[in-house]
Amino acid sequence: MPFLGLMKKRDLLNLSDLSRKEIDEIFALARKLKREQKRGIAHRLLAGKTLALVFEKPSLRTLVSFETGMVQLGGHAVFLGPGEIQLGVRESPADCARSLSRWVDLIVVRTFAQKTLEEMALYATVPVINALTDLFHPCQVLADCFTLLEHKGKLEGLKVAFIGDGNNMVHTWMQAAEKFPFSFSVACPQGYEPSAEITKAAKENGGRIFVANDVSEVVRGADVIYTDVWASMGQEGELEVRRRAFQGYQVNQSLVAMAKRDVLVMHCLPAHRGEEITEEVLEGPRSIVFDQAENRLHVQKAIMAWVLKGTKGLRVKGLKGRR
Ligand code: CP
Ligand code: NVA
Repeated sequence: MPFLGLMKKRDLLNLSDLSRKEIDEIFALARKLKREQKRGIAHRLLAGKTLALVFEKPSLRTLVSFETGMVQLGGHAVFLGPGEIQLGVRESPADCARSLSRWVDLIVVRTFAQKTLEEMALYATVPVINALTDLFHPCQVLADCFTLLEHKGKLEGLKVAFIGDGNNMVHTWMQAAEKFPFSFSVACPQGYEPSAEITKAAKENGGRIFVANDVSEVVRGADVIYTDVWASMGQEGELEVRRRAFQGYQVNQSLVAMAKRDVLVMHCLPAHRGEEITEEVLEGPRSIVFDQAENRLHVQKAIMAWVLKGTKGLRVKGLKGRR
């Protein structure tokens, strides 16, 4: 029986799929891959492997970092945009996942409903990774936490303040807050708060989570200010209504001045300058947005190697000898 047959495959659908110890393992590998890539040392950890990129929404960072990461690790990627598969129209998520599993080693999915992703993971016999759904964006938040570690040395005890929409980024940050732990406060307009169910679960798991409508209450004394677009992908039709609702929730210089002097400003990008964040702050000295974008590559390489580590012939620990 092949080695993989004995192992339960690992998916990454949201951060509750990972323990703190497993996140630490992924970060240790990401750190090594990043450091050595910059010294010109290549790790062909996934030589001969194929990644399917199933994307139902647009993407720059996620798409390029996954495809580039796979190629850097010796494998290759196949892009399947909305026109190719037409999930749920031309083919069910279950049939798509079962067919892909017969050809590829790993499936990365960006879709709307978490349920679609879960259905694919249920039927796929290879690992499935969430590349963003309406509910969660775990690869982004793992890269963000990795970036914060590089800048701050530790996450424990930090005060992270999120200003804006209680969206997929907020839900994922709440799951991260319970793991490290750090405090996570979010200020959103009334009616745009995060899911009550996800908030409750994160609190019950020990997360220090605070949801408010008042921006100053949340941002005072913050170590990190995070923001995201007011209208996420799929909500473009609500943009005008949202622009009105989110007045007063912009990350600008006077808001940054309320936080700690060494506050870091983060954004998952793409950013809408003049809406959720000003040009001055985004381009200012406290902003680390392109460090976040870079680390998508290193962290996702580690995630891909980590989920595939049960694969025959693939040793992740002790990378020596696999160059
Ligand atoms: N931050 C992020 O996921 O960017 P893309 O939507 O461009 O992939
Ligand atoms: N909340 C945004 C994140 C983009 C990376 C969206 O879902 O569109």
